[in-house]
Amino acid sequence: MIKKYSVKKLLNQGKFLLNKKVLVEGWIRSFRYSIFISLNDGSTIQNLQIVLSANKLDKIIMKKITIGSSIRVIGIVKKSIGKKQYIELQSLDITIYKLVNPEILQKSILQPKRHSFEKLREQAHLRFQTNIFNCIMRIRHHIAFCIHKYFHEHGFFYLHTPIITTSNCEGTGKMFQITTMDLKKNELIDYTKDFFKCKTYLSVSGQLEAETASLGLGKVYTFGPVFRAENSNTSRHLSEFWMIEPEIAFYHLEENINLAEKFLKFVIRYIVENSMEDLIFLNQCLEKWKKKKKNNLLEKLELILKFPFKKISYTETIKILDQEEKKKNIKFSHPIIWGMDLKSEHEQYLVDKYFKKIPVIIFDYPCSIKAFYMRMNNDGKTVRAMDVLFPEIGEIIGGSQREERYDMLLQRMKETNIDFNKLWWYLDTRRFGSVPHSGFGLGFDRLVQFITGMNNIRDVIPFPRTPNNAEF
Ligand code: 4AD
Ligand code: MG
Repeated sequence: MIKKYSVKKLLNQGKFLLNKKVLVEGWIRSFRYSIFISLNDGSTIQNLQIVLSANKLDKIIMKKITIGSSIRVIGIVKKSIGKKQYIELQSLDITIYKLVNPEILQKSILQPKRHSFEKLREQAHLRFQTNIFNCIMRIRHHIAFCIHKYFHEHGFFYLHTPIITTSNCEGTGKMFQITTMDLKKNELIDYTKDFFKCKTYLSVSGQLEAETASLGLGKVYTFGPVFRAENSNTSRHLSEFWMIEPEIAFYHLEENINLAEKFLKFVIRYIVENSMEDLIFLNQCLEKWKKKKKNNLLEKLELILKFPFKKISYTETIKILDQEEKKKNIKFSHPIIWGMDLKSEHEQYLVDKYFKKIPVIIFDYPCSIKAFYMRMNNDGKTVRAMDVLFPEIGEIIGGSQREERYDMLLQRMKETNIDFNKLWWYLDTRRFGSVPHSGFGLGFDRLVQFITGMNNIRDVIPFPRTPNNAEF
């Protein structure tokens, strides 16, 4: 049996395989001078060069070959004369799995020329065969992997929280309803006849369940899809996205803030150390497209690692923004008033201009703009909330210390019109060895967007779900 290699393995081990017979499979990326095939199988951004021989069989194949065709090659590993690669494969036998009709190819995003990201999205099922999307997906995988690695190595347990729920954790966000009933307009619906005997939705967050688990397991985290039916058509919003939610018992807000910083730095360091090839390729693409001589993807990531994140209270933030406006450094379209929710123009100015692209963690927000479960401060006006803001992206993490006092929590639920009868089980945990605890939610897709430097979040998830868009 001839040993089968991935392109990545073959290129990495090439030195030790010289003159050996091997088998590789992949898709043709280019075909030059009727003898050189660039083969890619998705394992790496690098292509393997296949050199066709002058034999009869290869000549027949030469005539048929098109870009995008899938093939299997048996060949001998040789030291390459070309400068681009150390080894190449001298073909002995080529089998074609499937050729691509040149006319069809021309209409597709696989036609080798620069296509817009919008165009790639229209053929989302073929995006995986492009270098750029391949690169992003590999990085996405490594980010997910090292997130699990971080938590596992720090004593956290991975918790699977339900996707189907009856409650809205965040209070505000709209939810997708799920039902097995046939909903006809203008008909009074009796949800006790529905599948779960009540109204159910897709979850916006696994936090409430994660809290109950942390009050027994100590440290847990979730990593799963969440769903929000907001009509936000921005470059940072998805209707279905992935969130990581650590929840830790005996943890105060300061510890939570430190965890968020250490965790984000770990992930970015891991990617810089393990995905350099893909990052360099993305950097080159961004340079070309944005027509910037020197793009800053790698510098941008280094900047996150280099300095401590800025930490300021909401009240200080309002002061800074107000002063900046008074100094005429900036004019915001929304006026600065204590109690307001920060808009993206404020966040962007703060991170990108004021703090020169160093991430900022804002804490102690007014209770009126945050969820019911956050711990009330002694001032009676602010809660122990924290948001991590990143350059370009804005809010990447939202978290808090939780209200662990039964009476206070009940009062907050009443004030914010949360149905405490439905959430009885959540409230009940505060009667059984309740302890200070904290956690946060990281928007996974936003992190992938930041690390890959993509302008639109829809280009970092395999099949984006956004308003009016669920085709694939
Ligand atoms: O700030 P959020 O709404 O916080 C929660 O859901 C809490 N339950 C988390 C917790 O404390 N356990 O969402 C957390 C993060 C945001 O900071 C943002 O990065 C991301 O989720 N996010 C979105 N990402 C993509 N598309 C959307 N529509 C998003 N909404 C929030
Ligand atoms: Mg938030």
